[in-house]
Amino acid sequence: MVDAEAFIEEAVAEIRDEVGDAHAVIALSGGVDSSVAATLAYEALGENLTPVYVDTGLMRKGETDQIRETFAFMESLEVVEAQERFLDALSGVTDPEEKRHVIGEQFIREFETVAKESDADYLVQGTIYPDRIESEGNIKSHHNVGGLPDVVDFEGIVEPVRDLYKDEVRDVARELGLEEIISERMPFPGPGLAVRVIGEITAEKLEVARESCHIVEDEVEAHEPWQAFAAVIGKATGVKGDNRVHGWVVSVRSVESRDGMTARAQELPWETLQRIQSRITGTLPNVARVVYDVTHKPPATIEYE
Ligand code: XMP
Repeated sequence: MVDAEAFIEEAVAEIRDEVGDAHAVIALSGGVDSSVAATLAYEALGENLTPVYVDTGLMRKGETDQIRETFAFMESLEVVEAQERFLDALSGVTDPEEKRHVIGEQFIREFETVAKESDADYLVQGTIYPDRIESEGNIKSHHNVGGLPDVVDFEGIVEPVRDLYKDEVRDVARELGLEEIISERMPFPGPGLAVRVIGEITAEKLEVARESCHIVEDEVEAHEPWQAFAAVIGKATGVKGDNRVHGWVVSVRSVESRDGMTARAQELPWETLQRIQSRITGTLPNVARVVYDVTHKPPATIEYE
């Protein structure tokens, strides 16, 4: 286990040593890794660090406001309002890999604009040890390892948490005084709600996914899942009043896991499931049906795309 206090002191000194009086930039997603990397870099560089948060419109409910609040102490924080540009770029895209590609490209374009404006010489990244191992082994191309370093000609790349495991990053986050909402944050995929909407992404489907995810997280929190969320998986017939309606099908997923490589569907109490169903159909009149996913990983994956 890492000695968080000593680690912070060393990491801050190292960043200062490497970057000196130059300017640095970091893509802040609100995840624990980039939040810790940004906070360490801010302690070292102050306003010479430009943290960039891109609101892709694929974030969870209230996430952007919460980022603004949590990182309000960083006066140089840049929030890029890119929701409409992402929705436009994703219009008509149905293939899951194509979606990831479009999101990655758009993200790079948004980040590049701010990075160039800020005249940054250094890129700070929240890469952690398992990211490096997976990338080196070509297991998974990580959005926080590839891509960004190529867009601007940086003098150097600084990765202050490169040797830490996830639980160690959480220890450092607590020691840095970051709120629980960051330090204990459940994993959230880089492409966000896009992988929780099957098929084409529309503003309506995104809103159903966002509101349903919020309800699921709220209801399931007490059962301490590794990850819990909802996805919009199609349309089905329902009854509203005296009428048959064709509404969205929302699938609820709550899993236990150690590292996301394998997972078990969680055995939730019937009352919890019913409360989720009733809140989702009560809040969203265009939802006809709520189902619970009982599939482990394997054979299913955790996300739907
Ligand atoms: P799967 O769906 O592959 O997910 O069983 C395993 C873990 O990885 C997360 N995940 C992603 N994270 N970019 C990410 O940064 C992605 O494209 C991506 N796809 C899945 C997922 O939320 C789960 O924690």
